[in-house]
Amino acid sequence: MIVGGNWKCNLTRAKALELAEQLNELDTTDVEVVVAPVALHVPLVQAKLKRAVSLAAQNCGFAGNGAYTGEVSAEQLVALEVPWVIIGHSERRTHFREDDDLLAAKLDDALKAGLRVIFCVGESHAERAAGQTVEVCVRQLAGVLRLPRFTPARVVLAYEPVWAIGTGLVATPAQAQQTHAALRAHVARERSAEVAARLRIQYGGSVSAANCAELAALPDVDGFLVGGASLRAAEFATIVRSCASASAPAFGPFMADWLAYPALGAATLLPAFVPVHPYVHMIVLASTIVYVGCHRALAQSALAPGVTTAETVTQKEAMRFPLYGSAVLVGLYAVVKLVKKEYLNALIACYFFVLGAGAVQQAVRAPLQALPAVRRLKTHVWRVNWQFWDKDAPAEKVEFNALDVPLLVIGLALSFAYTRTKWWVLANCLAVCFSVCAVEMLTLGSFQIGCMLLSFLFAYDIFWVFGTEVMVTVAKGIDAPIKLLFPKHLRADKPEFSLLGLGDIVIPGIFVAMMLRFDARRGLRALPYFKSGMVAYVLALLTTVGVMHFFEAAQPALLYLVPGCLGAAFATAAVRGELAPLWRFSEEEADEGEAGTEGRGAGAKRE
Ligand code: PGA
Repeated sequence: MIVGGNWKCNLTRAKALELAEQLNELDTTDVEVVVAPVALHVPLVQAKLKRAVSLAAQNCGFAGNGAYTGEVSAEQLVALEVPWVIIGHSERRTHFREDDDLLAAKLDDALKAGLRVIFCVGESHAERAAGQTVEVCVRQLAGVLRLPRFTPARVVLAYEPVWAIGTGLVATPAQAQQTHAALRAHVARERSAEVAARLRIQYGGSVSAANCAELAALPDVDGFLVGGASLRAAEFATIVRSCASASAPAFGPFMADWLAYPALGAATLLPAFVPVHPYVHMIVLASTIVYVGCHRALAQSALAPGVTTAETVTQKEAMRFPLYGSAVLVGLYAVVKLVKKEYLNALIACYFFVLGAGAVQQAVRAPLQALPAVRRLKTHVWRVNWQFWDKDAPAEKVEFNALDVPLLVIGLALSFAYTRTKWWVLANCLAVCFSVCAVEMLTLGSFQIGCMLLSFLFAYDIFWVFGTEVMVTVAKGIDAPIKLLFPKHLRADKPEFSLLGLGDIVIPGIFVAMMLRFDARRGLRALPYFKSGMVAYVLALLTTVGVMHFFEAAQPALLYLVPGCLGAAFATAAVRGELAPLWRFSEEEADEGEAGTEGRGAGAKRE
């Protein structure tokens, strides 16, 4: 669901800032919120707003920079880190005579520049009276639906009957649902069922606290574009919440969230006190990390591009990864062999001290942030230019609340305790936090890049483990939380451990996380790709420990994990007849011409 607040040509500088301040208190869980101040106020409001609320411009030019007096170009908005723009609002169509051709040119220019667009359509009173509602909207969409960049990831449609805008007259639920469904059917015919199912269609026109709940519950209404009511923070908050309650979490975990985190905590800490077989310990802990990481990654993918902190692996990076990885590995091997162990470990300890504290804070923050009491904490925003030597470098927002301070202290204490004691339980705590964050934050750009990265690493792992002693020497020689440790017994005198490198969790983890996003993208509420990926991961780990035990030799786990995870994805797609869409799956944009989706039919609503 997505809610836009169109402030139109309202508010003074002071009032705009006051409203932005109030919006920082907004609960935006499960709803994307975008507000559009006048262009002049955009940077001011931007500096005030927290990450959870995105910014839109109310208009942009049609042909980039140049001799266009009075215009603001899409390019300039992007440079200012404004992610959204509203195009085609009826007030621009009427008062500024913007016609369909001009609006299509604006949309094209905005999409080329990289903006996301709320594109408005709607009929006048006379046109509705003449029964021409759908015909008019379809005509307004004719030029824009042909644009190749018109994808559900980039464009949100707003159906705004002109007679309802600013008049207090609101479309009845039946009128809104009928028009939204007709527009979706039209998009399905013109583009594809997949595009239509994923396209978010907002309703706009006198939306208020009084009528929002009924409208938000309609199956084809995916949010609102709000004018007048968006100027009143409390009323806007009610409208946003109405969308949150209407958007049933269609792709929630199949193990409840509240169970996943305690399970992860127990899998990390319990074996310190109760003897657990190292193989059981390994399989339970590694798969729980992958499970939690995948769901956090899904939550990240639902955030707007400017809001998410996830990093995408490009094709080039995927190809270079084994080379760089090998260089680092050989470097570390030389260091392990040549440098005195004490010096090396002191250096590594300093490095992981800082990194570990950050990872603990980040890993623990997300689940706590979901608690209502924590959400009510005041968020402070700092804008920091990390490149302080370059005055023009864009400043980044740093947000924190009262929870962050104790979390950072806990992170530092944990890192410090680990550096001093080297206790394996503390090493595992840090390693768990590292790997959960890595699975959450690393995104494979597409299925093909995922296949490429996993295949390269498959070869890399086998070469360095089987072909040489390098990997095993480095893994055993470096005393750092880059691996999970599973004690074979709990005697303190001479501990012995089984090891699992974090790469064996993170690499398959980011692939399974992509499969979960594929499920979500296709509206598959049973999560077949995610579940088969998880099962494959567990089975492949079982195979690894089986072989390790039988041959009493270290095993490159990716030897089993890569074919397992890739095989599960291909097999699931083959059984479901979805090989082509899976192969074409890209995280960025909707794939064109795909087969129909189950999303709408299952009553799913996009969040
Ligand atoms: P309104 O405006 O909510 O004040 O009717 C809607 C809009 O113009 O987007």
